[in-house]
Amino acid sequence: MSSAVRVAVVGATGAVGTTMLRLLSERKFPASEIVGFASERSAGSEVEGLSVRLLEEAAVDGFDLALFSAGSGISREWAPKFADSGAVVIDNSSCWRMDPEVPLVVAEVNPETIARHRGIIANPNCSAMQMLPVLAPIEHAVGLERIVFASYQSTSGTGARAVAELESQTHAILHGMEPPAPEVYPHRIAFNVLPQVETFTDGDDYTTEERKVIAESRKILGLPELRITATCVRVPVPNCHSEALNVETREDLSPEDCRQLLSRAPGVVVVDEPGAGRYPLASEVAGRDEVFVGRIRRDESNPRTLNMWVVGDNLRKGAATNAVQIAEFLLERGLVGASAEPAARAAS
Ligand SMILES: NC(=O)c1ccc[n+]([C@@H]2O[C@H](COP(=O)([O-])OP(=O)(O)OC[C@H]3O[C@@H](n4cnc5c(N)ncnc54)[C@H](OP(=O)(O)O)[C@@H]3O)[C@@H](O)[C@H]2O)c1
Repeated sequence: MSSAVRVAVVGATGAVGTTMLRLLSERKFPASEIVGFASERSAGSEVEGLSVRLLEEAAVDGFDLALFSAGSGISREWAPKFADSGAVVIDNSSCWRMDPEVPLVVAEVNPETIARHRGIIANPNCSAMQMLPVLAPIEHAVGLERIVFASYQSTSGTGARAVAELESQTHAILHGMEPPAPEVYPHRIAFNVLPQVETFTDGDDYTTEERKVIAESRKILGLPELRITATCVRVPVPNCHSEALNVETREDLSPEDCRQLLSRAPGVVVVDEPGAGRYPLASEVAGRDEVFVGRIRRDESNPRTLNMWVVGDNLRKGAATNAVQIAEFLLERGLVGASAEPAARAAS
C-alpha cells in the first residue's frame, strides 16, 4: 500500500507548505508521487523541486493524502472535495478544528483520536500545539488546575508575506529610511511588540488567536472545563514562538520532578540551566521538530504552581511536523484512503 501513496500538498508555496514538502523529503515519506497546489499566482512556479499546479476541480481525484495549508476559506471549499474523492485530509487551517466530528490532533498527546477520522483531521493552532506536549504529561501526573498563557509569536506564524514585511521594515529603519507602511499587521512590526495576534471580533476583548489557544487546548486535552487564559503577542522574530506558562496543578509538583517528568516526555527537550545561560531560545530552536522547555521554577505567589518557558518552531512542530507525523501514523495503521466511518463526515 505505502508504495502507491499519492500525496497532494495544497498551499505548497506558503511558509507551512514549503516546510511540509521539505519534511516529506527529509523523513523519506514513502509517497509514490507528491503534487503541490497553489493559486494562479504561483501555478507553474517551482518549489522544493516540484512544479506547482493550479488548484482546480480536475486535479482533485486520485490522492490518498492531502495536506492543506492554504487558509480556512480554501480548506472549507476544497478539503471535502479531496475527502469525498478518497483522500484523508490533514488540515492546518482553523476551519475544521472545533468540529466535534473532526479529530484535533497533537501527535504526542492524543494520537488515538486519529483513527476516528471521517476524511478530515485537523492540525491545531501553532501556539496551542507547542504547549500541549509539555502540559499533557503534567496533567497525567498531577492534574492541571489552571493555566495562564502568554505568547511571544514570530512573524512566520502569519505566513510568508509577514516575514517579508518584517524584513523590509527592518532593512529600511537600519538604513535610515522611512519603513514601508504595514500591510499584513495593523502596526509596524519592526522594532515593536504588538499585543494583537489575529483579530478582534464581535466586541470580544480577546483576539481570535487567544480564543483558539483556549478552546483547542481544552479539546485536545479532553478537559472542557480547564481554567485557562491567554495573551498572544506578536514580536519581531522571524521564526519560533516563545511562551511563558504559569501552571497550577491539583497535586504538588516540584521543579525538579517536573524537569524529570518532561525529560521523559515524547517530543519535549528540557534545557534548564539558567545560571549557565542555558534555556530555550528561538534562535536555537529554529529548524528543530521538538518543543523545548526551561526556566522551570516555583511561582512563589501561589501554591502548587510552576512557571516555565516553552519554545517551538511554529513552522515545524507548530504545523508541518505534526501534519507529517499524522500522515505517518495513518500510513502505519493502514488508515490512508479508508476512513473509519466513511459516509458520516459532518459538513459544518
Ligand atoms: N505559519 C504558521 O506558523 C502556521 C502554523 C499553523 C497553522 N498555520 C495555518 O496554515 C495555513 C497557511 O499558513 P502559511 O503561514 O503557510 O501562509 P502563507 O505563507 O501565506 O501561504 C499560503 C498558501 O496558500 C496558497 N493559496 C492562497 N490562496 C489560494 C487559492 N485560492 N488556491 C490555492 N492555494 C492558495 C498560497 O499560494 P500562492 O503562492 O498561489 O499565493 C500559499 O501557498 C493558514 O491556514 C495558517 O493559519 C500556519
